[in-house]
Amino acid sequence: MSDLAMRLSAIKPSPTLSLNKKALEMRAQGHDVIALSAGEPDFRTPPWICEAGKKAIDDGKTLYTDVVGTPALRKAVAQKFLKENSLEYDPSQIIVSTGGKQVLFNAFMATLNPGDEVIIPAPYWVSYPDMVILAGGTPIFAVCPEKDGFKITPEVLSQAITPRTKWLVLNSPSNPTGAVYTKDELRVLADVLLKNPHVLTLCDDIYEHILYTGEPFVTLAQIEPRLKDRVLTLNGVSKAYAMTGWRIGFGAGPKHLITAMGTLQSQSTSNPCSIAQEAALAALEGPKDFLKDFKESFQSRRDRTVALINAVEGLSCGAPDGAFYLYVSCQGLLGRTTPDGGCLDTDSDVCAYFLEKANVAVVPGVAFGLSPYFRISYATSQETLDEACTRLKKAVSVLK
Ligand SMILES: Cc1ncc(COP(=O)(O)O)c(C=O)c1O
Repeated sequence: MSDLAMRLSAIKPSPTLSLNKKALEMRAQGHDVIALSAGEPDFRTPPWICEAGKKAIDDGKTLYTDVVGTPALRKAVAQKFLKENSLEYDPSQIIVSTGGKQVLFNAFMATLNPGDEVIIPAPYWVSYPDMVILAGGTPIFAVCPEKDGFKITPEVLSQAITPRTKWLVLNSPSNPTGAVYTKDELRVLADVLLKNPHVLTLCDDIYEHILYTGEPFVTLAQIEPRLKDRVLTLNGVSKAYAMTGWRIGFGAGPKHLITAMGTLQSQSTSNPCSIAQEAALAALEGPKDFLKDFKESFQSRRDRTVALINAVEGLSCGAPDGAFYLYVSCQGLLGRTTPDGGCLDTDSDVCAYFLEKANVAVVPGVAFGLSPYFRISYATSQETLDEACTRLKKAVSVLK
């Protein structure tokens, strides 16, 4: 008999992290594996941010801080929301946590009762459903096909809402598709939400700065101020500032929700790392010019990789408006036979074939709730991306 809690049986380890681990293991065994499965920038944290972390240690900023983050950091986060998103928050409406992940976890744990529903547009980031389940809620998947740009429409949203709906999760730019909601698209979703006052919205804006539309970034609470008291806006330094390992994320929302999330955090992890908080403060208050360089570098890799993928017969993808992922359709490969006689029936089969025969790790669409696709992260060197696409093309060419 297992000595583990029942709640564990309902969830699984993050499929993207597992796949990355498998790729690293294969590499350790001597295979020349290219992993396009990780969800993090390939840049180093800018040096002045690292210096702020080192200085924090030297200055003795190594003890507990306020549970929800230092007053200085929460003030800087409030300034960020004001300057970049035209959203006014008091520092008491802001929580700093151990990565964006903990903000989400706190939010669901603080609000979900058994039977409460959370609408998750699919394809979705892999952690949303499992976090909802852990918190006792029920994920409701709203399918967003490629023809709708992988985005939820007002019609689909209206149909998904029930009296038990607690949250809608909106992620723009999206992991895994890179889809970005326009101002007009948010406007019509806001109209549906205004008609359903029992529904909260969690806006996961963590990829805000990796946006190629040329238009300013927009978020729901900014588009419709009447929804601001029902929106939790999540952001952080992980993706924009190449700080995934520092583990600093933040959320802004109604005071009672933020207070509840703080209570939860006080009884679980307490404050996020004091040193990382000082580094995040330097990130938010420091120069921003390099964000443009990061973005341009991602954009040129996106353009070239999209062209290379579309040149592989049986694969297709559009050029997404944000983030650093491509969501590639592999519909054209289904039903084909591998040289070993195996049949490619699903996107998992396609990804397993690519890993074994081409030594390229990509994540099957089934992990994100929409098949038959796979996700490529192009946050790696162009040379590596070129080599990966060459290998995929070769592996596809020997299918029957
Ligand atoms: C959509 C999305 N939200 C949130 C996160 C969490 O970010 P963090 O590393 O700050 O916990 C990620 C990380 O992969 C993500 O892709």
